[in-house]
Amino acid sequence: MTKFSYTDELDDFKNAGAWLARRGWSEAAGGNMSIRLDALADVHEDDHIELPVAVPNLAGKAVLLTGSGTRAREIGVDPVPHIGLYKISDDGRHYGWIAGNDKPSCELPAHFAIHDMLEQHRPEDKAILHTHPASVISLYHEATMNSGKAISDKILSLQSEAWLHLPEGLGYVKHALPGSLDLGLASAEAVKRHHLVLWQYHGILATGETLAAGCDKLEVVEKCARVYWTLRAAGIDPKGLTLADTKHTLEAFGQLHRFDS
Ligand code: 13P
Ligand code: ZN
Repeated sequence: MTKFSYTDELDDFKNAGAWLARRGWSEAAGGNMSIRLDALADVHEDDHIELPVAVPNLAGKAVLLTGSGTRAREIGVDPVPHIGLYKISDDGRHYGWIAGNDKPSCELPAHFAIHDMLEQHRPEDKAILHTHPASVISLYHEATMNSGKAISDKILSLQSEAWLHLPEGLGYVKHALPGSLDLGLASAEAVKRHHLVLWQYHGILATGETLAAGCDKLEVVEKCARVYWTLRAAGIDPKGLTLADTKHTLEAFGQLHRFDS
């Protein structure tokens, strides 16, 4: 295996992998992660694999991506065998494997399409994580929880700081085939505005400046989902903060402009 050394990024993969496994969100090989790197000037991709979608904003850049079938609990011990380095060609239509694990996640179309969108709309977000938290997935089975707005309004109002972490609320993509370009393109559209995107019946995707920052947002939404189900199990249909309370809190912290009521 060709070696590469991105110490900070590998530490980020290791810590996030350990955390996803410890929380039980990434069962078996569930979930995947990637980090976008700047252009790799003197490294050339040998194989030119055609991308399912053009990613012009990634031309010449590189991505570290978890391998398909890799386990978060093993990434959390030693990330090196589980992460691959890929470079996007200068035409933005092909990619090539450079080093490390050479069997990319089946969600490569989503990771590449989202990185392309982030490069344009939120370039500081270099990291993407996808995982399967049970309390979030359970929400999709409630008939009324059928949009990002419906889910955001219901669960982010259950704790007074949740909207502060996620003032734009949650993005939402209807069920699509795992690993499909449809799932990738719909997610890329949703990340234009949202740091978290719900994948109906499947899981959730987060973007952040680092994987650790993405984990922060996942923790917030998962906490809210758990509060929701705890209350429901107690026979309470929670109303949460009023819209006025939410707006007041966001205003006090200078975040109201990011909220779309
Ligand atoms: P990979 O192991 O191919 O990354 O797939 C896991 C997954 O969760 C797909 O959505
Ligand atoms: Zn998945």
